[in-house]
Amino acid sequence: MILNTDVLIIGAGITGLNFALNLRDDLDIIVLAKNSLQECNSYLAQGGISVLRNENDYEAYIGDTLSAGGFKNKRQAVEILVKESRAAIKRLEQLEVPFNRDKNGELIYTREGAHSINRIVHCDDNTGEQLHKVLEKKVREKTNVKLIENCFFADLLASKNRCVGALAINEGKELNIIAKTTIIATGGIGGLFKNSTNFHSISGDGIAIAIKNNIKVEHLNYIQFHPTSFYEDIEDKRRLLISEAVRGEGGRLLNKEGSRFVNELLPRDKVTEAIIKEELKYKSNHVYLDISFLEKDFVLKRFPNIYKNCLERGIDITKEPIPVTPAQHYFMGGIKVDMYCRTSMENLYAAGEVSSTGLHGANRLASNSLLESLVFSNRAVEYINRTISPYSVIFKELIKKSDGDKDYYNNSLSIILQQEIKKVRGDIINELVAL
Ligand code: SIN
Repeated sequence: MILNTDVLIIGAGITGLNFALNLRDDLDIIVLAKNSLQECNSYLAQGGISVLRNENDYEAYIGDTLSAGGFKNKRQAVEILVKESRAAIKRLEQLEVPFNRDKNGELIYTREGAHSINRIVHCDDNTGEQLHKVLEKKVREKTNVKLIENCFFADLLASKNRCVGALAINEGKELNIIAKTTIIATGGIGGLFKNSTNFHSISGDGIAIAIKNNIKVEHLNYIQFHPTSFYEDIEDKRRLLISEAVRGEGGRLLNKEGSRFVNELLPRDKVTEAIIKEELKYKSNHVYLDISFLEKDFVLKRFPNIYKNCLERGIDITKEPIPVTPAQHYFMGGIKVDMYCRTSMENLYAAGEVSSTGLHGANRLASNSLLESLVFSNRAVEYINRTISPYSVIFKELIKKSDGDKDYYNNSLSIILQQEIKKVRGDIINELVAL
């Protein structure tokens, strides 16, 4: 089966939905989800979204991101992220994303590891889920967007380093999707690991397909292990994340003897290293994260989902420490992109965890992932909206005008094509014919 579209978005996490929502209404857009729309890592994000608190925070936020990243970050990307962070949050406020607010209606900012101040906005302890729900609802209201679930991304359709769409498998059937612009937003690589906080189905498909098609990738060794996933002796299951915000609110890491052994707010790689050392020292497969000394009402209000999920596993976090151990969490490397998410293949973009903007360096600062997804997809949207030639719009108008008269349609089409070709490069003709 062959489908034509202006824009094909592969992946329906926050990145994919943010593209679908903000691309022009006169473009035909198809969004593919490997399984259900909700089976994406951004849906699992607990902590929140970092944002520049005020102009005085500018250097500090850049410094925290660089320091957490081991100074391997691309500074230009860090500056863009920080500068454009407030605008990204403003857009979400306009969409009525239910961020936690104080009595005066002001945003509440929390803290996580390696942040020098509180600068993380959040929706309880399931920010990703609440944000995804808002974006999904808005995208479903758009008549120019077609969502296809259970659709496996099998390969790109490309010729001479120019992408013209993708091959996908939908319920056992091949779908050839011809697209003017293709966006890979397939997420990270957690499914490749036995212990990961990611859905197992998020298994690096976009990166593998990029490598197969000689698209530039980078920093494949930059893999982040989150210090605190719930320890349980289970096979083949996603590990439950215990948000870094628990440590941000004062949670303490304890070893088998009940002693603290690390500053809980160091960057993730450092805390993970300290936990592994402690586990080896005590020949144990976990340490403990304790928040039981805080007011019960505060814990229940601040971490309702973590409370519920731990209780289901037999731990009451208001009364006892949580057994935790590191698990794979995030991939900082990926498909190399520029500051507009453009890959090394023409007409192909990558954004979100699958991409490498260079922003995170070797270790991502907590709560910079949803922000990266929003800021860089907003930039790419703006670029695509400005530069795409919406063939589908021209063709649709022509079909309407020709009113079933094939000769009129064909003659007009060739005139339009010639005009279009004059505007763009001559070597695009094959693509136009394919469309
Ligand atoms: C967390 O809540 O600890 C995860 C958020 C993130 O990965 O930044």
